[in-house]
Amino acid sequence: MSGIRPTGFLHLGNYFGAVQNYVRMQDEYECYFMVADLHSLTTHPDTHLLKQHAIRVLCEYIACGLDPEKVALYCQSHVPETAELYLFLNMLAYVGELEKTPTFKEKVRAQPDNVNAGLLTYPVLQAADILLHRAALVPVGKDQEQHLEMARNYVNRFTHRYGPVFPEPRAFNFGEELVKVPSLDGSGKMSKSENQLATIYLNDDDELIRTKIRKARTDSGSGAAGSGAGGAGDPGASKPESVANLFLLMKLVSPASTLQKFEADYQAGTIRYGDLKKELGEDMVKFIAPIRERAVGIRADEAYVRRVMEQGAAKARSSAKVTLQEAKEAMGLNYYA
Ligand code: TRP
Repeated sequence: MSGIRPTGFLHLGNYFGAVQNYVRMQDEYECYFMVADLHSLTTHPDTHLLKQHAIRVLCEYIACGLDPEKVALYCQSHVPETAELYLFLNMLAYVGELEKTPTFKEKVRAQPDNVNAGLLTYPVLQAADILLHRAALVPVGKDQEQHLEMARNYVNRFTHRYGPVFPEPRAFNFGEELVKVPSLDGSGKMSKSENQLATIYLNDDDELIRTKIRKARTDSGSGAAGSGAGGAGDPGASKPESVANLFLLMKLVSPASTLQKFEADYQAGTIRYGDLKKELGEDMVKFIAPIRERAVGIRADEAYVRRVMEQGAAKARSSAKVTLQEAKEAMGLNYYA
């Protein structure tokens, strides 16, 4: 089970940090993937745009390869059972703990005039999303590890107080180390809502992708051959971060032979960053364009999108109902069952 807040289009970080894992999971597991529209309410977005944003993310999920026939693909707000479990879990979540959560403290700093209780209990709502389907595996990025640990705490407290109903969920990743996609301006990981030029969206058009890659930071100046003493081209020298980041992106979207060529150039001190960016830009376009075009096509079929959403919500609700029934039973709330 996993989800992404619909605060804009998906970007490359969402793709490699999460959605790629979703797609790989769908053939082997029973999967629930949703658009976390309720979570996005914690930052008071313009709700006139909510539907549009939720639909975009849903269509991008499908464009990335998720099959709505195989997985439950739904909007969080279409599963009201979430709210009931959230209420139960709130009694097992301690305020002191919630106040210490790094994501909460960050939000308090970012929006001091809107420190609402929903923001405080954000991890409880997330735990409800997961536990509602008794999900054990949650494909998410590293930044969500703390929230999963909190969900495990609620599971343990629930088990201790009422009996075993939920498994302990843990972060899941297919294959090797989870890729952290770097931001193009060297300011940490790629994320939405910060420097727009530093993030590549799955919706960016070809020219915009090329521009963003061209403007990406390279410490040693654009297009310069790093061959001077102590320069970037020193064989065996470790790459400056901005250069390493470009290589990382290349590893994600370019053919292995391209990566090898530029690695060799780098080692030989003959690398030209202008050439590397040009190649990377083209490979990025080849990677993004088909996803973007599929998403646009899917979005154009409104009846289809609606059907997917309704079908996903129905699947999620029937799983949720069974869980809630068991939870209430364990809690002694099924008075006349
Ligand atoms: N908190 C997650 C994020 O910001 C989004 C999310 C909401 C989520 N509910 C979830 C992720 C349940 C995994 C499982 O990315």
